[in-house]
Amino acid sequence: MASTITLHAPAKLNLTLDILRRREDGYHDLQMVMQSVSLCDRVTVRTGTGGEDIRVQSDCLDLPSGPSNIAWQAAQVFYTTTGISNRGTEIFIEKQIPMQAGMAGGSADGAAVLRALQRLLRPDLPDADLESMAAHVGSDVPFCVRGGTALAEGRGEVLTNLPPMPDCWILLCKPDFGISTPALFGRVQLEKISVHPNLEAMGEALRKQQLPAVAAQLCNVFEEVLSEKEQEIFAIKELLRRHGALNACMTGSGTTVLGLFADVEIARKAEIALKSCYSHVFLVKPLNH
Ligand code: C5P
Repeated sequence: MASTITLHAPAKLNLTLDILRRREDGYHDLQMVMQSVSLCDRVTVRTGTGGEDIRVQSDCLDLPSGPSNIAWQAAQVFYTTTGISNRGTEIFIEKQIPMQAGMAGGSADGAAVLRALQRLLRPDLPDADLESMAAHVGSDVPFCVRGGTALAEGRGEVLTNLPPMPDCWILLCKPDFGISTPALFGRVQLEKISVHPNLEAMGEALRKQQLPAVAAQLCNVFEEVLSEKEQEIFAIKELLRRHGALNACMTGSGTTVLGLFADVEIARKAEIALKSCYSHVFLVKPLNH
């Protein structure tokens, strides 16, 4: 008999992003403070539809429907790891999170598929096991399974919970161009990074629930390797600050820029101003675990 579940798949932001070293396996060891936010895709998973295929569909026609989609890979990893037989799986993704945005849109969908299959087929499966599975799907997927506020280390899969972000409004603005994540990693020369995030100060700001101090510690080392034609990122940061953001920073490998606001009225006015220049602008809230 078929069973269906629909889950939200929240986007993630980086409050900090640091690159520590290049690894033998081609990945990099990172240190990132990650935050889930209320901008979400909606993922519907239906199991027991007959046959043994995994099928992915979306209202966004740019998304691949087969094995190159992270949602497809997540389902495959779930069945392989648990040994449960796939009796036909249909996944439908309603896309809100822009692609190539540094907000882990694909990873969020993958995490929602894992969570959905856990609920439908193995409700007794510990969350820790689900996070281990998630690491085989992609570097950001374990954080997306866990959500909230966390320090992510290693490739991104070694997670430590942090105190929740103080209540605030976050204005997101993505310019029309994207940047390929591997290409951006390829540009980084580790010894040339001039300013690294201060993890201790960010941890302290979160513990004390001080939003201005959290804002002051926003830092992403990828901003140092943006090319001439990507300088618009800095223009958006400036625009956000001019419209009242406590501070602004690029998230992940870009190209979304986030601005932190304490006051909803100021944030709404900034939203209107940015929407007159950019098509991808979202006013969101942080989500807790
Ligand atoms: O794991 P995921 O598929 O999300 O990573 C995409 C690409 O980003 C990797 O192929 C790699 O080039 C780069 N990456 C990295 N170090 C990480 C995470 C990602 O170099 N910790």
